[in-house]
Order: sequence, then structure tokens, then C-alpha cells
Amino acid sequence: MPELVLGVETSCDETAAAIYAAGQGVVAHALHSQVDEHAVYGGVVPELASRDHVRKLPGLVAEVLSRAGLSRSDIDGVAWTRGPGLPGALMVGAGFARALAWAAGVPAIGVHHMEGHLLAPLLESPPPAMPFVALLVSGGHTQLVHVADVGRYRVLGESVDDAAGEAFDKTARLLGLPYPGGPAIASLAAQGRPGCIELPRPMTKRPGLDFSFSGLKTAVLHCVRKRDADEQVYADIAYAFQEAIVDTLIIKSHRALQHTGCQRLVVAGGVGANTRLRERLDQEAAGEGFAVHYPRLEYCTDNAAMIAYTGYLRLSAGGGEDLDFSVRPRWPLAELPVPSR
Ligand code: KG4
Ligand code: ZN
Repeated sequence: MPELVLGVETSCDETAAAIYAAGQGVVAHALHSQVDEHAVYGGVVPELASRDHVRKLPGLVAEVLSRAGLSRSDIDGVAWTRGPGLPGALMVGAGFARALAWAAGVPAIGVHHMEGHLLAPLLESPPPAMPFVALLVSGGHTQLVHVADVGRYRVLGESVDDAAGEAFDKTARLLGLPYPGGPAIASLAAQGRPGCIELPRPMTKRPGLDFSFSGLKTAVLHCVRKRDADEQVYADIAYAFQEAIVDTLIIKSHRALQHTGCQRLVVAGGVGANTRLRERLDQEAAGEGFAVHYPRLEYCTDNAAMIAYTGYLRLSAGGGEDLDFSVRPRWPLAELPVPSR
């Protein structure tokens, strides 16, 4: 059983390292965000992302080891993000983690990034008991997943087009806001007035647990074209957009709880950092009698703590890999093996 697992995350535009210790939890984590580097391009440039991971990852690993008062030889396993993500960016983490593990003579394990997000709320205390329904809302994914146990995942519904985070990012661009769009829209929405603009709650009137957010972005485009580009109007649009996303996520999450008979909802992924979503979900949970759990804000967006922890759980269950490895830029959650315990 591993005692100390080092995790590295390089799937997109955040370079991160963390150490998970059995019985103690996350003992150190560090992150470098590339947001400023990509901001001028209005989105992530894959080649720049890979190059920056190469520059930053060794320093971040040294930093977490030193903060935890450990050396490389203390580590019992190395977890790295295998996918989904940008192929070149994933390869940087893969090569680095595998080399480190090989040199130290310890096992390495490629972790599913969304499983990391999904298990991140378990790092809080008390952790949510399983089974639960997870609402995974990130830049690349929007899914409702029934979680019976580690590795026992059933996707109940997902976005048929844009993910919620992607919708935030694309809509922010329409409103002339910087990347990443989620936090930018959230702060502009704080100046918006309720009731000025109405936007649809896509796919909520028909049964089912799938989402569609691309129409919302088009509805915003029509609003922008129809009105004068006045600052207050943009704030009203940001407000209406955020409400539409939040309402839609809440309606479907509630439906998923009813459908599965679960009493617990776990929210994870970057959009899970949205204050308005948390506020409204807390109200809904209190009114409807279910529990809702979130990771702390720094474990909502991309981080390596969730990768170290997921790697620890899977290595403890006998996972690990031989020297033959590959990244999985596209990797359905349902293809993950159930760990044998
Ligand atoms: O989980 P994450 O860090 O990376 C992926 O795995 O995709 O999620 C990033 C997404 C971006 O689309 C970003 O705009 C969104 O999360 N996001 C937010 C907030 N913070 C980040 N969306 C809404 N409100 C926020 N406060
Ligand atoms: Zn993520």
C-alpha cells in the first residue's frame, strides 16, 4: 500500500503538483496558472500550454517535496493525468511522471482527470458518503454521474454540445470579457438587474438528464446585436446568462436525485466554483431536503491534489502500469475499470 503519492496535472492550462499522504490527506500542493499567457489569444493555445508545462513542472514538484519536508526517495507512487485533455500537454505530464517513477523504482498510474474532479469532494471532512449523484461541470464536460463507489460510475446525462464552462467562456468572449469567462461573467453579473432579459432554460421542459448550452450562447449573441452596447445592458445579459445556466443545472440535478433516489449531490469542476450556483443549490437543498457537497474552491478548478488522491486510491487497490503507456485525450468516464479491493 502506498503511503505517499505524488500527483502531477498538465491536462490543459494549469501546471500543478501535490502530495497525498495516507491518513493525513493532502500535505502539499502547488499550481501555476497559464491564464495570463493565453489571455491575449482569448483561449488556450495548445503548443504554448505544452511548452509552459515543460518549464514549470519540475520546479513545482521540487516545491511540493520541499514544503512537505520530503525527498524524491520518500515517494511510493506517482499519479499523472492521462486524459481527457490536450494531447501535447498530457504528454508532458506523462513523460515527466513516468521518468520520475522509473528512476525512483515506484509504480506510476495514469489518472482520469474527470474522476479526479469527481473524487475531489472526498478530500473534505466529513466526506460525502456514497452513493451520490455528481454534477461535473468543467470547461470540457457537463455530466450527471451516479457514483456507487470508486470506479463504479454511471453517466446519467451529459451535454450534447457545449459544456457549461465552455458556454461561460464563449459567452464571455461575445461580451468582450477576458478568458476564462466563468469568473469574468460572475463578476459582471453582480452588477446586472433581475428581470431585464429573459433567456431559455435549455432542455428542461422535456424529460431526461442531458444538457445543451450552445443555444444559450446564440441567444446571447442576438441580445448583443439587438441592443446598444451599453455597460448596464452587458451586465444584465451576464446576469440573465448566469441565472439560465444555474437554473438549468439545478433543475437537472434535482431530477437526477429523484431518478436515482439519492439524497446527496456532489458538485465538482471549475463551474462548481461559481458563487451563485452554490448559493442557489444550498437554498434548493434546504428546501428539498437533500445534502449538497462541494470541494474547497482551489480543488474545484484544475489542481493536482485530486490527481494525487485518485492515484492513491487506485494504487491502493492494486492499480499501476507497466512501461507501455499512452495518453487518452478523449476518454469516456464509463471506460474506467472498477478497482479490485
Ligand atoms: O475544471 P476546470 O478548471 O478545467 C477543466 O477541466 O475544464 O474548469 C474550467 C472552467 C472554465 O470554463 C471556466 O470559465 C469555468 O470553469 N469557471 C467558472 C468559474 N470559475 C471557473 N465558471 C463559472 N463561475 C466561476 N466562478
Ligand atoms: Zn478540470
